[in-house]
Amino acid sequence: MSRVAVLKGGASFERQVSLRSGARVEDALERLGHEVTSIDAGPDLVERLEAGRPDAAFVALHGRDGEDGTVQEILELVGVPYTASGPAACMRCMDKVLSKHLIRDAGLPTPDFFAFTETAFRSLGAAKALPAIERRLEFPLVVKPAAQGSALGVRFAGSPDDVPGAIVAAFSYDARVLLERHVAGRDLAVSVLDGPDGPQALPIVEAIPHEEHFYDFEARYEIGRTSFVCPAALPGELTAAAQTLAVDVYRLLGCYGFARVDLMLDEAAGGGLQVLEVNAIPGLTQTSLLPQAAEAAGIEFDAFVARVLDLALARG
Ligand SMILES: Nc1ncnc2c1ncn2[C@@H]1O[C@H](COP(=O)(O)OP(=O)(O)O)[C@@H](O)[C@H]1O
Ligand SMILES: [Mg+2]
Repeated sequence: MSRVAVLKGGASFERQVSLRSGARVEDALERLGHEVTSIDAGPDLVERLEAGRPDAAFVALHGRDGEDGTVQEILELVGVPYTASGPAACMRCMDKVLSKHLIRDAGLPTPDFFAFTETAFRSLGAAKALPAIERRLEFPLVVKPAAQGSALGVRFAGSPDDVPGAIVAAFSYDARVLLERHVAGRDLAVSVLDGPDGPQALPIVEAIPHEEHFYDFEARYEIGRTSFVCPAALPGELTAAAQTLAVDVYRLLGCYGFARVDLMLDEAAGGGLQVLEVNAIPGLTQTSLLPQAAEAAGIEFDAFVARVLDLALARG
């Protein structure tokens, strides 16, 4: 039996999802016989950790602060062992521009992209470079904020007229935006879970959007607007290739415990698999993809939580 603090909520755009992830983790920890305290990550976080001195913290936060290395840094400082990736890996995953550079430099596939900051746009005339970028990436292209989060701010631009509005929308989420080549293909999520033999890829989940929401990326995350199939119907060698790629990216970015790698299978000739992003702390709700994938691998949610907690204690 351990004394475990579940960190949830926080101030990010994904607060509501995090509250649900956290509640589900708390239930599992209680069933496993642990003593659980629930902490809504706010200004009293350090105080509460220092006063409670838990044996471990289960980080069920998503988005800014909780998934970007900030809370992990605090946990390191306070000396409380915690679940999932450390500060540096979280920073690499949270920043899509950084992770895509690292992935590309490692020779792994990710859609072609250009990124710039609000400063470059406003003070350095980066808007003048848009036509060149558009020629390189071709239409349609995808505009998204560099900092990740549940498809928030992800826009599809079909022509040059759509680009400025999409960029402004993305800037409302982050000071850096990414213009990325659009991949026409299948949306695959490969969850990775650490274990005694190192990180292991779980069965692949495919998100199949209903026709009318094909280009509405935010709608894809709403229940009923997307069907999720696990394991994805893919030939054996493609499944193996996607799982190997996911583990390679997980290792490259230095993840620990678990993570979810979002891929696209480009259906154009010679397209292949492309890495979109890595989620250092993916959703853990009833409908989230990682728990579904774990279950498909025969790992029930409680067993998943138990394993992740053991890994946290082993690291501390
Ligand atoms: N380059 C792209 N080509 C096609 N679809 C994309 C592309 N980038 C993102 N999408 C769609 O938007 C969704 C969210 O994008 P993603 O990069 O994973 O950001 P988020 O952090 O918001 O999940 C993807 O799952 C995919 O459906
Ligand atoms: Mg994603």
